[in-house]
Amino acid sequence: MILGIETSCDDTSVALVDDQGYVKTLVSVNQDGVHRPFGGVVPEVASRQHTEQLLPLIDRAMTDAGIEWSQIRGLAVTSRPGLIGSLLVGVVTAKTLSLVHELPLVGVNHIEGHLLAPLLRDTSYTPPRDFAFPYLGLAVSGGHTHLFKVEGPGQCTLLGHTVDDAAGEAFDKFAKMLLLGFPGGMRVDQGAKDGDPKAFAFPRGLMHDETLNFSFSGLKTAALRQIESMDPHERELHKADLCASYQEAIVEVLIAKLEKAARQTGLKNWTVTGGVSANSRLRSKAAEAAIRRKAVLALPPLKYCTDNAAMIALAGLYKMRLGQVSDQELTPSASSLPGDWLTP
Ligand code: KG4
Ligand code: ZN
Repeated sequence: MILGIETSCDDTSVALVDDQGYVKTLVSVNQDGVHRPFGGVVPEVASRQHTEQLLPLIDRAMTDAGIEWSQIRGLAVTSRPGLIGSLLVGVVTAKTLSLVHELPLVGVNHIEGHLLAPLLRDTSYTPPRDFAFPYLGLAVSGGHTHLFKVEGPGQCTLLGHTVDDAAGEAFDKFAKMLLLGFPGGMRVDQGAKDGDPKAFAFPRGLMHDETLNFSFSGLKTAALRQIESMDPHERELHKADLCASYQEAIVEVLIAKLEKAARQTGLKNWTVTGGVSANSRLRSKAAEAAIRRKAVLALPPLKYCTDNAAMIALAGLYKMRLGQVSDQELTPSASSLPGDWLTP
């Protein structure tokens, strides 16, 4: 049994995962309510929340699962990338628990956690039959939009990434422009339900260039111009169309690049993870693309897509098997480290 700790942004999360990747328990505290008045995540507030929440959450996870410390074989903690103050709370806590309980410690890259999430299992989820390494992994969240070839734990090749905003950030900023509230992605998704995705012709950044990179800043500017050209009544009237068209511009590019990567690599196993993979349009378009290309698509349940400690525990389990344990020198880092990814 591995205990996983995730505190890289604004979710405090603790999980117990066994050596088969089976999630015994996953408990999280979401800070959305705390950050909402500020319209975005405030780093100082986030780290203070983690400080208050983490130890009680660890106690709760152990009690819920009926697990004693003597049954734990290792500690996995997100050590990068993320908000440095938030990461620090998780890393210092994990290092202390490692000393107290004499347990091996593993620092995990948060994005690698997202990429491995489809391999988790529990009473109601198992990965699709035949889904295995190597696979294409699209990690889309508020902080990252990265496309990988995942050949195994520690063997992720970065094929493409956003050159400016992350997809989730683009959703959140648009929601702010339309005064939909925070966090924005889910509200845009809901707002788009009755809208026409063709109503507004928003730009598809880098859609037809030769790379597997993404760009969402042009889309954001175009949407801002469009919204500023409308009076409040018009905005309200066309809200659903604006949401649907904006969402479509993001989803279309994500799927186009996923399919392009599939053509280039020949990979028939795909996964889409990270908070934005909760998006209903992205989920249905990814499923359609997988059928079209006869690919196996793993879409983990939302609790494993958004930031969570189960994916960190699983990544830690793999690393421990590879002997890649950390020591008390482990320090958090705001960005990924050289060597985290292979290059094509
Ligand atoms: O992975 P995650 O929980 O945290 C980060 O590592 O960033 O992702 C959060 C992001 C936010 O930008 C949020 O707006 C977005 O995921 N998101 C969505 C949806 N649900 C969450 N974006 C689009 N549609 C959704 N339904
Ligand atoms: Zn994340």
